[in-house]
Amino acid sequence: MEGWESFVRESHRRTGTGARLLAAFELSASGKGCTLISLMTGNPANIRYYEKLGYARDDSRLGDPEAEPVYRYYAEKKHAVFLFKTLT
Ligand SMILES: CC(C)(COP(=O)(O)OP(=O)(O)OC[C@H]1O[C@@H](n2cnc3c(N)ncnc32)[C@H](O)[C@@H]1OP(=O)(O)O)[C@@H](O)C(=O)NCCC(=O)NCCS
Repeated sequence: MEGWESFVRESHRRTGTGARLLAAFELSASGKGCTLISLMTGNPANIRYYEKLGYARDDSRLGDPEAEPVYRYYAEKKHAVFLFKTLT
């Protein structure tokens, strides 16, 4: 299962919309048997958002040769941050 970019209209930001969107995605993924969400953001400003929602940084993936090509692309740009969350 793959999610590609979460986006909240500027006028609605910081009202909990992003948190609800991500919670709905996690619930759907969990219902399909997914136990781990791994993501990458090219925008370090979003780290606080993901950490607030229970994601932890996973810097080990920056040098992972098995990583998806898109991950490697951002990793080479040096501003990629990888995060993960275990679903229970
Ligand atoms: C990232 C994004 C989806 C967050 O959506 P949102 O609806 O504003 O998020 P929420 O209101 O649910 O925020 C939840 C928590 O995340 C943190 N957070 C969210 N935006 C933040 C910011 N710009 N700076 C610091 N912390 C932030 C806060 O702790 C916030 O809780 P609080 O408001 O009680 O302090 C939104 O900013 C966005 O659409 N950005 C542009 C697209 C983008 O960068 N998407 C992510 C791609 S990886």
